[in-house]
Amino acid sequence: LQHVPLFQELAQDDLFGIAPLFTEKHVKKGKILFVEGDAGEELFLIASGVVKIYRVDNDKEVTLALFREGDFFGEMSLIRSGQTRSATAETMETSTLYVLNRTAFTAFMEKSPRLCLKLLETTMQRLRHANDQIYDLTFLGVRSRILKMMLRLSEQHGTRTPEGLLINVKLTHQELANMVGTVRESVTKVLQELLDDGRIHIDKKLITLKDPEALRKELR
Ligand code: CMP
Repeated sequence: LQHVPLFQELAQDDLFGIAPLFTEKHVKKGKILFVEGDAGEELFLIASGVVKIYRVDNDKEVTLALFREGDFFGEMSLIRSGQTRSATAETMETSTLYVLNRTAFTAFMEKSPRLCLKLLETTMQRLRHANDQIYDLTFLGVRSRILKMMLRLSEQHGTRTPEGLLINVKLTHQELANMVGTVRESVTKVLQELLDDGRIHIDKKLITLKDPEALRKELR
């Protein structure tokens, strides 16, 4: 837990107190952890793996966030009792999760102002991202939205390689389309242009940005 940003500020005693209250869950790729509208009774922490947060409308899907090791989710319906899950959560890779129930979560929030501040800090960061998404959807075209999303993903899930900055999450064109509010065909077209121009490299659904700074400049 010491390595999880949410708990980094907790005193050793508090950490020892909270650790045994988590239950460990091992889940395969593609498992739905909860569905939008469910009663929310648990907070999830990711020890390893990737979890996608999304909403669906008939056969369409919009991805709100991708979380990985060290991230938490499921706090929204815990903070205000009676509220249901605001979105669906599904594993995108085999994952290990730590789960904390509402009573334990609330007790720790009441005890630890530091934990509350940390939670608020992360929530503000997520609100900032959500604002960016509204802005991008309102003002930017598809190519810019895709570029921005890839740059954002490279900040959150990036690994430096000799070839550039690798986005360390396997993404299909459809998944990328769900993240930027467009259709798969548009993503295929833009990625092909970027491949032809030598700006990106794709290997087994993993995208590498060859020169992220140059892509950033294109957006300015
Ligand atoms: P909860 O509503 O309990 O269940 C869905 C979870 O997804 C929610 O808590 C948050 O943890 C997370 N979530 C929902 N919307 C967003 C968003 N826009 N950005 C990041 N995380 C979100």
